[in-house]
Amino acid sequence: MRQRFPGLTLVSAGQLPLAALAALFEAAFSGYAVPIRQNAALLAARVRSEQIDLEHSRVALRDGAPCALCLLARRGDTMRIAAMGVVPAARGAGLGRLLLDEAIAVAREQRAARLLLEVLGSNAVARRLYERAGLRPRRRLLGWQRAPFTPRAEAALRRTHCIELARALGADHALDWPWQLAPASVASGYAWMSTYAIADKAYAWIDDRARDRLALGHLFVAPHARGAGYARRLLVSLQAHFPGRAWTIPPLVPEEFGGAVLEALGFTRSALDQVEMELALG
Ligand SMILES: CC(C)(COP(=O)(O)OP(=O)(O)OC[C@H]1O[C@@H](n2cnc3c(N)ncnc32)[C@H](O)[C@@H]1OP(=O)(O)O)[C@@H](O)C(=O)NCCC(=O)NCCS
Repeated sequence: MRQRFPGLTLVSAGQLPLAALAALFEAAFSGYAVPIRQNAALLAARVRSEQIDLEHSRVALRDGAPCALCLLARRGDTMRIAAMGVVPAARGAGLGRLLLDEAIAVAREQRAARLLLEVLGSNAVARRLYERAGLRPRRRLLGWQRAPFTPRAEAALRRTHCIELARALGADHALDWPWQLAPASVASGYAWMSTYAIADKAYAWIDDRARDRLALGHLFVAPHARGAGYARRLLVSLQAHFPGRAWTIPPLVPEEFGGAVLEALGFTRSALDQVEMELALG
């Protein structure tokens, strides 16, 4: 490494103060298709929610200055690249590949059975980097959107706790959620996410901080209540509760879940999508 990258060292991300790591995160994602804002509080929430393992995450220092990072998360025997970025001035010099090789080596050392990540479909440079290191596309994760509408009917909406939603999701073994929507992420209790339910049948997990829109993380109907119109009733009731807000669903909805339900609810596909990629390490 010394010959190819003079002045470069890789250190554990745990060695940096969270604020410095957040500043590096933001710098390493400058120019990214989705603007990334980061600070110590947001990063702390992300670490908690995604089970990022700071000890085994890496930061590259050039002459002592942070210039790239690779955050690794862990659940069970799966490790996931939660963030990977190089500051613009250091891109294209092989640092991305170096950090990725290091992440794969760390995951092997830590006896993970597989390494996962998600990458924007439009991020050709990153996708090629991952493919050349042996990661394979697993599935597409789609984003959806919907204009505000005028609600027609209402069901009694119950405000509940994310733990109830996490339990309901966890009981449905048929669904393979992407990392950020998995029960463990939901249960971590992002302070700005709210959970609403109709009885024990339908759940929505939303971010209502923006005045003009709602970001929908989950719209989940328990298996015993499917096919009876609960998704529509929940959506309509939420729209009545938050009149005039448009809807966005971030690109985390697995393609194989099928879009028929969302289309029936008036959603259309958004331009953003992600590819979930995987490397078996066994
Ligand atoms: C994606 C990213 C991490 C790659 O890091 P990097 O240090 O620039 O990448 P490397 O120099 O190791 O190059 C890796 C490969 O991409 C190619 N590449 C790098 N920059 C490129 C560019 N601008 N255009 C085309 N190819 C490029 C390299 O030639 C190399 O390919 P090779 O293995 O065939 O030689 C970096 O561009 C980045 O931080 N982007 C913004 C954040 C981001 O998109 N992160 C990924 C989120 S999933």
